[in-house]
Amino acid sequence: MRRELDYHDPIAVTRDIFWTGFYDEVTKFHCNPYILIDDQDVVLFDPGSIPDFPEIMRKVIDVIQPHEITYVVAHHQDPDVCGNLAVTEDVIDRSELKIVAHGNTVRLINHLGLTSEFYHVDKHDHKLTLKSGRQLEFMYTPYLHSPGAMVTYDVKTKTLFSSDIFGGVSAEWALFADDWDYLKGMKAFHQVYMPSNAILKPALEKMQSRWEIDRILPQHGCVLEGEHINIAFDFLKQLPCGVDLDES
Ligand SMILES: [Fe+2]
Ligand SMILES: [Fe+2]
Repeated sequence: MRRELDYHDPIAVTRDIFWTGFYDEVTKFHCNPYILIDDQDVVLFDPGSIPDFPEIMRKVIDVIQPHEITYVVAHHQDPDVCGNLAVTEDVIDRSELKIVAHGNTVRLINHLGLTSEFYHVDKHDHKLTLKSGRQLEFMYTPYLHSPGAMVTYDVKTKTLFSSDIFGGVSAEWALFADDWDYLKGMKAFHQVYMPSNAILKPALEKMQSRWEIDRILPQHGCVLEGEHINIAFDFLKQLPCGVDLDES
């Protein structure tokens, strides 16, 4: 068991990756933006919704000055993922800021009225090299659960930013999986929001074969480390979801 965590503060997941999310005691749907602080670049992942914005930005400001953020990654277009992008880029106030997304997401989030340049991952070999040489790799995960969905792998820390995949929904919650029975919430979330096992399973297998993964940081639910990584992969690979349930 970890020390007692205060979810009103940002929480360090590694030495340079912080949870800046919102423990929502009202809707019970907890969103997890993360910030990665590299040498000369700062990357904010899935900055979240308009209602969550004050809390998220307060936590971001606790660890970094907003104008130091060089990239914002939007793994897909949902309002809980990047509904606050326009105000986030306003606060960052940096002309060179880039919004990183797949083209099928860019087409939609363009309607949020953004002013920053987009970094289309599909036009850059699904890679982003930071100034330090640190590599972020992206994997396109269409229909999980959006046509433009993708995940990010940080090669340096072997961290998978998985967005909605590996997400969970539950009234009670803990950020780290070892403090919580996370499979129940993961099952509930995937059965509703993922289209089918036939689409989910091959994407999970592709992630496992491509990357050595030391931790998974989903946009809802719990951070997965150690034994929980394989437990979660095995659990989701056999989980009927979406249309599988309609058919049964
Ligand atoms: Fe989503
Ligand atoms: Fe989400």
